[in-house]
Formats: sequence, structure tokens, C-alpha cells
Amino acid sequence: MTSVVSTRTRSADAAFAAVRDFYVSSRYARHRNDPDICDFTFGNPHEMPIAGLVSAVRERAVPRDKNWFAYKTSEHEPQAFLAGRVSRELGLAFEPADVALTAGAFAAIMVALHLVLDRGDEVVFSEPAWFCYEPMLLAADLVLRKVRLKGPAFDLDLDAIEAAIGPKTRLVIVNTPHNPTGRIYDRDALEALADLLERASVRFGRRIFLLSDEPYRRLRFDGRDFVSPAAVYPWTLISYSYGKVLLAPGQRLGYLALSPLMPLSDRQALRDAMFSAQMALGWCFPNAVMQYALPDLEELSIDGAALARRRDQLTGTLTRAGFDVLPPEGTFYLWSKWPAGDPDQHWNALADRKVFVMPGSIMGSPNYLRISLTASDRMVERALPAFAEIAAA
Ligand SMILES: Cc1ncc(COP(=O)(O)O)c(C=O)c1O
Repeated sequence: MTSVVSTRTRSADAAFAAVRDFYVSSRYARHRNDPDICDFTFGNPHEMPIAGLVSAVRERAVPRDKNWFAYKTSEHEPQAFLAGRVSRELGLAFEPADVALTAGAFAAIMVALHLVLDRGDEVVFSEPAWFCYEPMLLAADLVLRKVRLKGPAFDLDLDAIEAAIGPKTRLVIVNTPHNPTGRIYDRDALEALADLLERASVRFGRRIFLLSDEPYRRLRFDGRDFVSPAAVYPWTLISYSYGKVLLAPGQRLGYLALSPLMPLSDRQALRDAMFSAQMALGWCFPNAVMQYALPDLEELSIDGAALARRRDQLTGTLTRAGFDVLPPEGTFYLWSKWPAGDPDQHWNALADRKVFVMPGSIMGSPNYLRISLTASDRMVERALPAFAEIAAA
């Protein structure tokens, strides 16, 4: 008997199985809600919400007219507000119609995939990667072309990307600042990528788009610069989310933005199709209250100094213990190689001490681990000796 579940959902499910099992049935899942664990797994909050978030949402939850909770698309006011803010932030002249409000980066990515890709088109992305690209691409009936980032610093491997591009390639995904490695790609790397995409588009007679997934854009360490790929390659779509900077991923708000450098004919075609794509995919717009609250939310951020402090504490202890840590330039993750020995054994030894990290195997990198710096200071303090102990054992 064939399955009642569609083939594409089954393939997405198979690609997501490791993460799902980790979340719902692993040793971590059994202890996820214990109050005394040190949880470094997902980018979730482990303290009460940041100042200003609750009041911004609460204030806009009170209706001011009868349409307050009517269907909301990309409402003009937040769209115009965002166009101004994103233009200033990225040094590009976005028009309001270039910015589609979405229910976070998840929805922005899915809308982008449906906007520019047809079933069977190929998408290139680099690994290790955020573990949802693969199931999302499979759920959209797309074909994956995965390449590896180049060690030891996990740079974009432009030769590998070029080799992976073929006549069916329609999209390349770049995630900067990068989850899980914390790398931020500089202008030189992005310009070289843009050149390559331009040449490949000409060679195959078909425009290749770039999806720049930038939800961690504002989370950068040591005053690092950020260049959006949208500033160097005109056929770029940006996915953004407030879930990271506000550390409130359950309150869905983000956008999909078209590079203003894109020729107007292409940009207009995408703008025109945006509403239908968002509607047809299941009303991918943010809730009314989050749209109204956007100007206030735009001013808020998690504490970057606290993230840097945790990064430094963990980097110091882990490095001394024999972990090979890649200092993150952005995001709120720390990516590190396990010390010598069996990674599973190390993971379990940490779990024995109530310390839970994301195993790199979930991101196709079994010799690595990812530590989320969204853990509380108390969790970090309690976990530091555990990291040292398991490395020495
Ligand atoms: C690289 C990357 N892109 C997109 C997302 C989705 O963000 P959101 O859940 O805020 O939509 C995440 C979330 O972890 C991410 O790490």
C-alpha cells in the first residue's frame, strides 16, 4: 500500500528527521523542560523577553478601529517604514513595494522559492547549513545541489559553487552571518560570487537568482561590517526575520526584500506576483499586531554585550580544554570541533552533566558542535566546568 503522505512531504520529512527526533524524542527532548539543565541547543530564549517587547505588542493589541484585526497583507505603513530603514541600513534605495512583510524568514524563504523557481529547478547551497533549507527545498519540489564550505574557516568555496551550477540552476542561497559557523562573508567574496553568477547566467542563458538569508544581520561581534549580497548582485532577494534580534521567534515577523539594483522590469514582475505567492502559500503575512508594532520593535535588540561575554567565556574554556573553536563574527552561535575522541560519547558526557549542545551531525558535520549563546549567564557559568571535564576524560 502506498503512503497517504505525499512524496514531497515524505522526502522533506526524511531530510528533517534528525532535527525532529532531536527535538521530540532524543535524550535532549526528554530533559528539554527540566529547570536545571544548561540548554545550548536551539536559538530560543532562556530568560524573560527583552525590555520593550511586551509593551510594544501589548499596546498594539488594543483595537483602535473596526479593521484592526481584519486580514492584513503587506500593510502600506510598515512597508514604507521598512523601505526607509532597510535603505539606510544597507545603503540601497529600497522602495516600499520592494519589501514584502512575512511571517518571519521561514515564510520569506518559502515565498522566494515559489516566486522564482519551478518544480525540478536546482538550488545550490553550502554546508554546513541551517537544517531547514533541505526540507523546505524538498517540500517545494526542488532539486538540491549541496557544496561544502571551505575549511578551516568555512569560507564560501566559489569553485565548488561554480562546478555545481548547471543549466537547471535557478537559485543560489547564501546565509550571512552564517548559521552555524558565525562567519560573515566580506565584500570581496560576495563580489567574486556575483561575477560567477553573472557568468553562469550568461553561459546557460537563464538568470540565476541569489537568496541572501540574513536573519542574523544585526547580530555582529566586535563592530564587524556587513555587506548584503543585495548590494553586489542585482538579482538578489533578502530574507529577514525579527525572531533573532528580538529573541522572540514565536512572534512571527520578517520580510522578503528585492534588491533595488534589480532591473525594474524584473523587479516589477516579482512585486506584482508577490501578493499571490504569499496568499497561495497560506497567507504568509505577519499578524496584524506585529505589523503595527514594527516601528517600536525595530528599535529593540537582545544584549549584544551579553552575547559577546558568553562567547568569550566559552571560547576561553573550550580552547584551553582542547576544543577547536571558530571565533564567530556574527549570529548567536559558537561552532567548534569536538576534542579528540568519539563525538557521541562527548555529547553524552555533557548530557550526563545536564549540558545539552547541538550535535554537528544534524548539520552534516559529526566532528563539530554548535553552542547557542542564547543560554543564560547562569547556564554558561554552570556549564564551563563540564566542558573542561569531558575533554579531559
Ligand atoms: C539561517 C536561518 N534562516 C532562517 C531562519 C528562520 O528564522 P525565523 O524562524 O525567525 O523565521 C533561521 C532560524 O533559525 C536561520 O537560522
